[in-house]
Amino acid sequence: MGSVPLVPPYIESLRPYQAGRGIESIRRQYGLTRVAKLASNENPLGVSPKAVEAMTRTLTGLNMYPNGGLELREVLAREFDLKIENVIAGSGSEGIMSNIIRPFLCDEDEVLTTEAAFLGFQVLARSRGVKYRTVAYDNWHYDLTALAGHINANTKIIYLANPNNPTGTIFSRHQFDQFYRHVPERVLIILDEAYFEYAKDNPRYPDSMHYRYDNVITLRTFSKIYGLAGVRIGYGFAHEELIRNLLKVKLPFEPSTPAQAAGIGALADKEFLHRGLELNARGLRTITAGLESLGLTVVPSEANFVMTVLPCEQDATRIFEELLAQGVIVRPLTAFGLPNCLRISTGTDEDNQLCVDALRRSHAASIGASRAS
Ligand SMILES: Cc1ncc(COP(=O)(O)O)c(C=O)c1O
Repeated sequence: MGSVPLVPPYIESLRPYQAGRGIESIRRQYGLTRVAKLASNENPLGVSPKAVEAMTRTLTGLNMYPNGGLELREVLAREFDLKIENVIAGSGSEGIMSNIIRPFLCDEDEVLTTEAAFLGFQVLARSRGVKYRTVAYDNWHYDLTALAGHINANTKIIYLANPNNPTGTIFSRHQFDQFYRHVPERVLIILDEAYFEYAKDNPRYPDSMHYRYDNVITLRTFSKIYGLAGVRIGYGFAHEELIRNLLKVKLPFEPSTPAQAAGIGALADKEFLHRGLELNARGLRTITAGLESLGLTVVPSEANFVMTVLPCEQDATRIFEELLAQGVIVRPLTAFGLPNCLRISTGTDEDNQLCVDALRRSHAASIGASRAS
């Protein structure tokens, strides 16, 4: 028998993705009537009625194969004033990311990104068994200068999320342009803009639709502000050469027909979008103020979540568990590589208040305990 293992070591060493606890199981475990899930950056408003209508219309035609996202690509091209040749649609932005990473990375290639990058990217990149290099955050922002300094002859993909998950921070057009001057043409930059809509009105935030660089692909999603995380629909835009080659390697039929229709319906629902943005802005204010009033460190966010930095891992675990017992599910960031941090997504106004009240009770209890000891 040969000595090559059936499962490559770089797959064996991956940790399976751990989904957060569900609402029902928390409700049952703690005997609660109300549970707020603020763990996965989902849309608390639910699904756009226009998306539901559009999906429902496709149901009787599901005996037929989908057309690879053709209509959605047309709609997106019109919406963003691009050619259809510049647009790709897929099963979530992670689906497209996987279609980039799988064929583009070869043995000696390296990936370069920040420490504690979006977990979905970490898992995809590490599953290729290539060298995964990271650069430390600069005050919870991408350190683009340091990243530029780490590009070497093997660097193949650079991953940048703007806004970033889990920190919620952004970089500006000027910072990106400075960085871009150091990036060779053979290096592909994946610009992940899953939270684009939340940040787009900030004058410091660049709309990468205007970049037009040959080696940059922008990825966006319908999972967040459009409320379609369960449907799996996302899109990307890039130079037509890049898109033409990605279309060769993507699964031929994705996205599914209902997913494509949902995306088209959601794009037409501007009212749902505005309501979501307003709710999120209120949520960021409420949760940030609640955390700060307890003296906790909050990283200013341009997305639909905030990250709080605790003094140590034990504090993060304790607060996570105490919130859980009060019906508030937040996201510990150990798997990202930040064991002393928690990420809290914005919810409905009631969810956000529940979260702040639970934090206060947890804080009061911990002060009481430290006085008693
Ligand atoms: C930065 C980032 N990119 C991509 C995604 C995944 O998006 P999708 O649901 O479109 O795969 C997420 C989801 O949390 C994210 O935070």
